[in-house]
Amino acid sequence: MGWLSRCCYQLVLLQLFLLHFSLTHSKLCSNDQASPLLQFKQLFTDTSNYSARYMEHWKEDTDCCSWNGVTCDDMGKGHVTGLHLSGGYLNGTIPSNATLFLLPYLQVLNLSSNHDLKGSFPEANWSNPLQILDVSFTSFSGRLPDSIGNLKSLTHLDVSCTKFSGRLPDSIGNLKSLTHLDVSCFSFSGRLPDSIGNLKSLTHLDVSASRFLGRLPDSIGNLKSLTHLDVSVSKFSGRLPDSIGNLKSLTHFYVSDTSFSGRLPDSIGNLKSLTHLYVYYTSFSGRLPDSIGNLKSLTQLDLQNCKFIGSVPASIGTNRVEWSERQQSKGVLIYVRACDA
Ligand SMILES: *[C@@H]1O[C@H](CO)[C@@H](O)[C@H](O)[C@H]1NC(C)=O
Ligand SMILES: *[C@@H]1O[C@H](CO)[C@@H](O)[C@H](O)[C@H]1NC(C)=O
Ligand SMILES: *[C@@H]1O[C@H](CO)[C@@H](O)[C@H](O)[C@H]1NC(C)=O
Ligand SMILES: *[C@@H]1O[C@H](CO)[C@@H](O)[C@H](O)[C@H]1NC(C)=O
Ligand SMILES: *[C@@H]1O[C@H](CO)[C@@H](O)[C@H](O)[C@H]1NC(C)=O
Repeated sequence: MGWLSRCCYQLVLLQLFLLHFSLTHSKLCSNDQASPLLQFKQLFTDTSNYSARYMEHWKEDTDCCSWNGVTCDDMGKGHVTGLHLSGGYLNGTIPSNATLFLLPYLQVLNLSSNHDLKGSFPEANWSNPLQILDVSFTSFSGRLPDSIGNLKSLTHLDVSCTKFSGRLPDSIGNLKSLTHLDVSCFSFSGRLPDSIGNLKSLTHLDVSASRFLGRLPDSIGNLKSLTHLDVSVSKFSGRLPDSIGNLKSLTHFYVSDTSFSGRLPDSIGNLKSLTHLYVYYTSFSGRLPDSIGNLKSLTQLDLQNCKFIGSVPASIGTNRVEWSERQQSKGVLIYVRACDA
């Protein structure tokens, strides 16, 4: 009996040891988490450069949660939640069927500033609960697929300065959690979809330096949380919609270098939070609306090289500002060089 109980005792010890081992090593990411990452690594064959070196320690049978650029959940479940590979000189092509887009817990995919990184987004089968998607300053190309609208948890979408082309899909309006949307920098064209007005959580919208054209949709006035709106350096034309006056949270409004025409709408005077209004190099005509004097938070008004006539309304705090000067009036810095007065 002696040896038998000793044996059982040792068995129990062994089991306890094994239990302890499995608990303390529960952080080890499982194969289903590691294998999409290893497949991702294989897309980069250019060993001469940094891209391969960046992932040098991404090796099978090591904990992927400890790999360079990889983050996992705080609960120790070994779920890959983030890929932070910005500025990694990644040189290769991510196909739209890359298993990366199927990682079931991925919340952050930041591939920005990898200028030689080509790729496209999946048409479907995009099963990450992504919150942050940043491929700015990469060579991602093709269309932004309708499937982007499936990423319901997305708060930040930055696809600026890429080689994407074509229209923004209507499905962009499904991204109800989005707070930051940057589609600037010559990637997209066509009209902004009306559905953009569904993005009620947006605080930052940047559509500048783009080939977008036509009217700004009236629905833009639904974006009541917007603080920054940049439509500058674009081919937007027609009148600025009156609904712009609904953007009560707006602090920065960049309208410079656009093809808008007609008068600035009176409703602009409703933007009580506005501190910066840039209207230079525009084709707006007529007089500046008197309502501009209601913008009590305004610190900078840039009217250089515009086509307004008359003078800056007295309501803004000065009887007459010569169009050819830079004026500081009641704390408002007004740049008004070379208007057609
Ligand atoms: C990217 O990789 C290709 C071949 O894999 C190589 O020819 C090219 O020079 C690389 N580009 C840079 C900028 O390293
Ligand atoms: C590595 O990449 C950098 C930046 O893209 C590039 O300037 C350099 O020529 C590349 N070196 C080699 C050996 O490919
Ligand atoms: C992706 O599609 C290509 C063909 O278009 C195929 O060769 C490749 O195996 C696919 N990759 C995955 C991970 O399904
Ligand atoms: C992506 O990473 C870069 C570099 O760390 C960072 O500056 C940028 O803010 C990140 N993007 C987002 C959307 O968080
Ligand atoms: C989506 O995934 C399913 C199953 O893996 C596959 O049969 C289908 O072809 C995929 N669709 C696309 C558009 O990649």
